[in-house]
Amino acid sequence: MSKFIINGPAKLKGDFIPSGAKNAALKMIAASLLTKEKVVLENCPDITDVHSLISLIESLGAKTNFQNNVLEIDPSKVNRFCPNDEIAKKIRASIVLVGPLLARFNKAQIAHPGGCLIGNRPLDAHMEVFRQYGINIKYQDQYYSFSTPKLVGAKTFPCLSVTATENAIMTAVLAKGESTIYAAAAEPEIKDLILMLRSMGAKIKGAGTHNITIKGVRKLSGTQFRIMTDRIEVGTIICAALATESEITVHDMREKDMGNFIYKLESLGAKFKIENSKLTVLKSKLNSGQIDTRTYPGFSTDLQSPTAVLLTQANGKSRIFETLFENRFNFISELNRMGAKIKQINDYVIEINGSTKLKGAKIESTDLRAGAALVIAGLIAKGKTVINNIDIFERGYEKWENKLSKLGVDITKEK
Ligand code: UD1
Repeated sequence: MSKFIINGPAKLKGDFIPSGAKNAALKMIAASLLTKEKVVLENCPDITDVHSLISLIESLGAKTNFQNNVLEIDPSKVNRFCPNDEIAKKIRASIVLVGPLLARFNKAQIAHPGGCLIGNRPLDAHMEVFRQYGINIKYQDQYYSFSTPKLVGAKTFPCLSVTATENAIMTAVLAKGESTIYAAAAEPEIKDLILMLRSMGAKIKGAGTHNITIKGVRKLSGTQFRIMTDRIEVGTIICAALATESEITVHDMREKDMGNFIYKLESLGAKFKIENSKLTVLKSKLNSGQIDTRTYPGFSTDLQSPTAVLLTQANGKSRIFETLFENRFNFISELNRMGAKIKQINDYVIEINGSTKLKGAKIESTDLRAGAALVIAGLIAKGKTVINNIDIFERGYEKWENKLSKLGVDITKEK
């Protein structure tokens, strides 16, 4: 277990270069199983979740080489359809291996996937999609087994679930005939996955929309593809800069990918200068307000906890309505111990009374995005903040001790 030690309050200054998107990289690693040729992923984030997915495809027979954010995958020798169960249980994204495995072997077997403790996170949308493709599903002793004599295109309805949409796409690309995906999620990472699949020869229309059509092809080739910027990391550092009244410039940012996040913060008083892919956070004083998390292009649930900390610094009463997950406020007891005044109204709503001064404390991260909230709290707080179990934060954030040090933060990482 590692910890971050931050001596605050911090003022951030300089340039921030975000990493590649975790939620795109994981699915692209799974997608490499759809070909027997070499796949090269550039701008691949060096984070624990990526290492877990790499271990999972290696457990199936793939060979990989990961250096300087370039991941090379040789999937030619993949000959197993049951990924390592210990790793699969740890990471929810392991479910996205099922589509590619079905496409390659007409069968797949996987342990019930784990992941962050943020609500029930059911898999019914995935199972419904696989049934719609006519796949037989058996569940026994915490294992799912999937099989089909032949993969045939179908109409599917993943009900706006991100990973179920990605499974629907990856199951269809090599299936016989045409597939239509209705009520597809439209998150930018899904569009990026579609762009990668197209570069491999897949025939997909409707990228970035709620209706996707796919014409199955017989074979996909290898590819060299650059992964999009992590919009959640961008949003997190924007919250950190605003919360500490700092001015920084964030690079490689695509405004459209941010959905209504930037607009919403502007409506609360945040000031930005945006020039092409560069966003400069200007020193701003925030007002209180209400945030509802929604699917893209609505306010991302993954930016809910960083925004909650930010709102502890806004004058007045703010409310956050988390519409996607019912257990995503695990961080508030830790923030309250630091001096915040946050009240949980019910499983989905919190009320934040600001502005409050925060003081350093020993705190513990419970899930990935809660960890991001605590890091920002450590930057705001006066004195020493020790954040234990930072490993969970590092599932999604690459080398933040280095990135924050470069911005002038007094931060160290200890084992
Ligand atoms: C993905 C992201 C995660 C993000 C989430 C929502 C990855 C690896 N993770 O997670 O960072 O927070 O999208 O943007 O890409 N649901 C069901 N049944 C299902 C599946 C989902 O009811 O079978 C519900 C969930 O409980 C939740 C909503 O649908 O309320 C959205 O979940 P989903 O889009 O599936 O999230 P993930 O794909 O797991």
